[in-house]
Amino acid sequence: MQSKVQERAIESGDGLYFYDFNSEIQDQKKEILTGLKQNNKKISAKYFYDEKGSKLFEDITNLPEYYPTRTEISLINKYRQEILEKAGEHSILIEYGSGASTKIRLLLDALKPKAYVPMDISKDFLFDCAIELRKQFPWLEIHATCLDYRQPATLPERLPDGFKKVGFFPGSSLGNFAPEEALNFLKGVRTTVGDNGAFLIGVDLVKDNQVLHDAYNDEQGVTANFNLNILDHLNKVGAGNFNTQNFSHHAFFNEEKSRIEMHLISDIDQVVSLFNERLIFKKNEHIITEYSYKFIPSKFSEFAMRAGFESKQIWSDENKHFALFWLEAI
Ligand code: AVI
Repeated sequence: MQSKVQERAIESGDGLYFYDFNSEIQDQKKEILTGLKQNNKKISAKYFYDEKGSKLFEDITNLPEYYPTRTEISLINKYRQEILEKAGEHSILIEYGSGASTKIRLLLDALKPKAYVPMDISKDFLFDCAIELRKQFPWLEIHATCLDYRQPATLPERLPDGFKKVGFFPGSSLGNFAPEEALNFLKGVRTTVGDNGAFLIGVDLVKDNQVLHDAYNDEQGVTANFNLNILDHLNKVGAGNFNTQNFSHHAFFNEEKSRIEMHLISDIDQVVSLFNERLIFKKNEHIITEYSYKFIPSKFSEFAMRAGFESKQIWSDENKHFALFWLEAI
């Protein structure tokens, strides 16, 4: 694996490095059709994020009902000094997911790390963001690494040696993983950061049902458009003819499973063509597009422990809507 990585390294030099480790060509057609042909139909949430979907998600983060983003930003702002005390100076900061956000800028400002490793599957986006960040932080060594971070990550070989590694995974994106997948992901992070490493992770908390419900059923209908856009994205990927007007957005909190479930419901009996195949949807049939798990702090700490991390600090807002966990390797 490492030698492949070296072959694929694209170096711009001068403290800005690019790597493309995403050698796997995924069989999208098989994955999509399998999900839509089974009894409980589903589409992977990763198909939300075409250009329009990414823009809609950004709009979601600014909605009055969607508390996670602004709450997490205010927590990073409020506790930046304490985060620095935990991380120490000259850490290597590894971000799982895009590096475009306000959050990473706040954290880079606070930590002044030795190097920053943004990881993302979306290569163009990742590389553009790295170039922008470098302009804003000219002192920062950036190793932009294209990979599917849900798989165990390989770090670039030329990262500076001997510095504490700190992972960063904001936005409660862990909540979009199935529990087994989330545990494997945390174990992978534990391996990546090593025995002296730490992990700063944003976690959305269990709370009043109505608050959760509203966050995924906003008045302006942005979340509904975001959900329906997944069908337009599939139309592009598989030359399909989904008509979004024939489906409805449905999101609710499943208390037993402690997760928001996002579904699309077929409003009529219909046949849709995708990848030249006929897909049948009965009236009122559901397609699951996303789970978003919500956590109880003590349960999340136990979960992290199973992956080899001890929860050393939990920073939360006064409403206990969202939490930043500081996990250390044990
Ligand atoms: C990206 N992820 C953490 C969001 C969430 O809240 O689960 C995605 C989202 N889906 C609907 N609204 C936001």
